[in-house]
Order: sequence, then C-alpha cells, then structure tokens
Amino acid sequence: MAARDVIEVWDHEAATFDEAADHGLRDPEVRIAWRDLLLDVLPPPPARVADLGCGTGTLSLLLAGEGYAVTGVDFSPAMIRLARAKAATDPAREGVAFVQGDAAHPPLAPGSHDVVLSRHVLWALPDRAAALRRWGDVLTPPGRLVLVEGRWSGDAGLTADETLALVEDSGRRAELRMLRQPVFWGREIDDERYVVVAG
Ligand SMILES: C[S@@+](CC[C@H](N)C(=O)[O-])C[C@H]1O[C@@H](n2cnc3c(N)ncnc32)[C@H](O)[C@@H]1O
Repeated sequence: MAARDVIEVWDHEAATFDEAADHGLRDPEVRIAWRDLLLDVLPPPPARVADLGCGTGTLSLLLAGEGYAVTGVDFSPAMIRLARAKAATDPAREGVAFVQGDAAHPPLAPGSHDVVLSRHVLWALPDRAAALRRWGDVLTPPGRLVLVEGRWSGDAGLTADETLALVEDSGRRAELRMLRQPVFWGREIDDERYVVVAG
C-alpha cells in the first residue's frame, strides 16, 4: 500500500481509536498497569521520551503526567489533531509536544532524546532495521529503546524473537518481557504480546 493510503487508513481509525482498552486507557486498572510497566522500564523522569507513532497521544500524555518531557510523532493528521485536543485540556500539557511526521524518519534532532518508545508501530514499517538505526540516532548515547509489539491473529505483527533479533542486530542488548496479563488489554489474550527494552 502506498504511504498516502496507509495514512488514510490511520486517519479513518482515529475517531474510534481510543475505544480499545489499551488505546484510550479509560479503565483506571488498565491505565495503572501501563503506567507501572512504563515507569519500570524507563529511566526516571524528567527523561526525554520520543513516542514514535503516538496515535492519539495517550501514552505521551500519561508519561508527561509523570514528569517526562515527551515528543509524540505520528504521520496521521487526524491522530495528531486528537492528540493535541487531548493535550489542550490535560494538566500535563506543558510536558508534551505533538509533531506530524514519519516515524521511520523521525523529525527529531540527533541525540535529542533519552528514550525512544514505540507501541505497535515497528512491525508496520517497511524497513524496520533502517528505522531502528534512525531511532538510535535520535538518542543521547546510549539511550534506551522501549518497543511494545506483538504478533496478532493472522500474520500481522512481529514475534518476540523477530523483534529481539532486529534490536540485537542493531548492536543493542535487548530484554524481553511478555505482556500476557489481561489487565494490559482489558481482556484475555491468546496471542503474543510483549515489550522489548534495549540499552
Ligand atoms: C496501532 S497505532 C498505535 C498508537 C500508539 N503508539 C498507541 O500505542 O496507542 C499505530 C500508530 O502509528 C502510526 N504510524 C504508523 N506508521 C507510521 C509512520 N511510518 N510514521 C508515523 N506514524 C505511523 C499510525 O498513524 C497510528 O497512529
């Protein structure tokens, strides 16, 4: 699919995107689960986090609320509009900026962030190894990659082994944590979902 068509697909998804439990984090228990997970794998605030493929900005705003300085990047104008609208009424708005751009070529200065966080985005990029190299360039060395990915029904996504191999091929040591608990997803799951953290 051409890039413009992919953006249109995500634009179309934007209005209902936050309805999924792990997207909108509207259920307090789900929200707390993600907050605790992220605080556990991130360096302490006020680290600078690039949330690449930030969608409606839920994770960006969650982290800004914890004292992180967050830049959310997404190529979908509708996603970015919703993220900015959410930020406008969020007490943490000073801690976050949303930028429209391609996560595969982040419009961020070299060495400008301490963490690249990306949830459910790497799998969909055409050249994942190249994207990971560019994500590394955004980091103040050594920086940290926090990649939440999965292999969902059908053949969508990346297995944990595939993500580990990609990260390790980029010259980083990676650690894997499976995210099987229903509290992350608002329901039981029977597929493979995980976070890879690499320093
Ligand atoms: C499954 S959603 C995840 C959103 C967010 N990371 C979250 O977990 O709530 C994927 C998001 O990545 C964005 N995206 C996909 N490919 C992208 C790219 N190449 N550049 C920027 N954004 C991209 C989509 O527009 C969409 O908002």
